[in-house]
Amino acid sequence: MRLTVVGGGSTYTPELVDGIGERSGIDEIVLVDPDEQRLAVVGGFCRRLLAHAGSPAKLTTTADLERGADGASAVLLQLRVGGQAARYRDETFPLQHGCVGQETTGAGGLAKALRTVPVVLDIAERVREVAPEAWIVNFTNPVGIVTRALQLEGHSAVGLCNVAITFQRWLARLLDVDQESVRLQHVGLNHLTWVRGVRVEGQDVLPRLIEQRADELAKHVELPAALLRRLGAVPSYYLKYFYTHDEVVARQRSSPPRASVVSDVERNLLKRYSDPSLTAKPDELMLRGGAHYSEAAVRLVSALTSGGGVEEHVVNVRNDGTFAFLPDDAVIETNAEVGAGGARPGAVRPVEPALAGLISHVTAYEHLALEAATRGGRDRVAAALLAHPLIGRHHLAEDLADELVRLNAVHLPWA
Ligand code: G6P
Ligand code: MN
Ligand code: MN
Repeated sequence: MRLTVVGGGSTYTPELVDGIGERSGIDEIVLVDPDEQRLAVVGGFCRRLLAHAGSPAKLTTTADLERGADGASAVLLQLRVGGQAARYRDETFPLQHGCVGQETTGAGGLAKALRTVPVVLDIAERVREVAPEAWIVNFTNPVGIVTRALQLEGHSAVGLCNVAITFQRWLARLLDVDQESVRLQHVGLNHLTWVRGVRVEGQDVLPRLIEQRADELAKHVELPAALLRRLGAVPSYYLKYFYTHDEVVARQRSSPPRASVVSDVERNLLKRYSDPSLTAKPDELMLRGGAHYSEAAVRLVSALTSGGGVEEHVVNVRNDGTFAFLPDDAVIETNAEVGAGGARPGAVRPVEPALAGLISHVTAYEHLALEAATRGGRDRVAAALLAHPLIGRHHLAEDLADELVRLNAVHLPWA
């Protein structure tokens, strides 16, 4: 089975390739990337990884999307339009207006959506020509908006994030049980999720965990323990941008943007990958936020493409009535049943108002963000910003819209 990775020159790719075991059914990997130099370095290292592991899987590289996707069973999207330079701007311009500087949340997240959606839709259209049956697994941020864009165009797309699997692994270690025996009940939107239950051997241990170990949980998600007690749930660390917005802004003002840190990590990683004697993943890879993404991705691709049964995965799927307070075509992140027929959300108990309010608010923003991304226009950008709960003030939304468009004009087909 052929897996095509678009954005295959990413420094994350070796982790993905390393995670491809024989049981995955993947015996052919094609890395597609416009940057041929990176493709050579990353592809070369990935081949050494496979050879060292004695894997029979074959790996090729190409800058030609149609050639790379031809006949693929699954296409993984992990690209970054504008690279770390565009991310740097996303993380800095909102800060000057007292708003959080983040690549997937707030004004920075909108900028990323506007740059990314047209590119991803074009890629998906071209993929459809050469691999009409392929599943699209989307890891490209902002995952919720991009996945919905794909679904509305009729593509078979599932969105993926590593937040849930990373938390599951961490909890398993905390509880000293194996990872497979921990089942999270995860609800929300991508990068806006809460864990409302933790099943271990059929029992929900979350209430006891919050009662006895709130400090450890809270530290892990970088939020106050009292907030976890208040909610009776564990928000993901992306919710710090909401629940502790002003504290985060103050910290961001006195520390380098994540884009600068990641640029250094990437430079180092690429240097390591070019060393012909390197045959194992370097530890520096763990300095990236997407750690364990490969594990989730490989399992998801296998579940979607093997004729086997249905498995549970936390993914980004069409709402279809799961959250009664959202439109059916909203994309939500929750536990889903995944098999060859696709991903369907599992049953969810009614969502508490404190969570449902924020989920609705951000969904409305995401829908306006997609309008702006597909139809263009500075006023649609301002409308989306006004609808974002972290912005929501007229003058702020207008100023940020002007600045966002100015800073991203080269990447916006309409600007
Ligand atoms: C997390 C998120 C990803 C995001 C990554 C950023 O893993 O789930 O969606 O891309 O962090 O990591 P980075 O190392 O680029 O800051
Ligand atoms: Mn993510
Ligand atoms: Mn300004």
